[in-house]
Amino acid sequence: MSLIQTKLTVNGYTHSLLVNADETLLFTLREQLYLTGTKEGCNQGSCGSCTVLINGKPVLSCMTPTLRCANKKITTIEGISGGETLHLVQKYLVSDGGLQCGFCTPGVVMTAVPYLEENPDVNRKEIKESLSGNLCRCTGYKKIIDAVENASKEMKK
Ligand code: FES
Ligand code: FES
Repeated sequence: MSLIQTKLTVNGYTHSLLVNADETLLFTLREQLYLTGTKEGCNQGSCGSCTVLINGKPVLSCMTPTLRCANKKITTIEGISGGETLHLVQKYLVSDGGLQCGFCTPGVVMTAVPYLEENPDVNRKEIKESLSGNLCRCTGYKKIIDAVENASKEMKK
């Protein structure tokens, strides 16, 4: 299969890349750009671990062809906060024990951050629903919801 040239802007940097026509954004991010914070779980759109932002909206990168992402703004977990500073969602996931192995965590963060930005007055039930596509095998979810709820309260201040 012949390779196709495209440009991808990720976390503010534009890369010129050769990709396969059926290459997924998840593959390109991890295998070409070495941004391995985006996790490959099911690779079939079911677990949420591969979530990244395209033009500020969460998408499953395992289901997104890279060629459809040209000229769009992609944000991965590596670009969600500035420098060494954690985003409030990350900060509370750590302090509230909302992660154990951490495999689901990048996807949780990339789902929760745009949701809280768009919905500043959410309640716990809504937070739970918003994260229903992010599977976690370790935490039992309660501490993840606690963390996102605490981040939402602090983001409103
Ligand atoms: S790896 Fe993309 S949804 Fe599971
Ligand atoms: S912390 Fe292990 S899968 Fe969520």
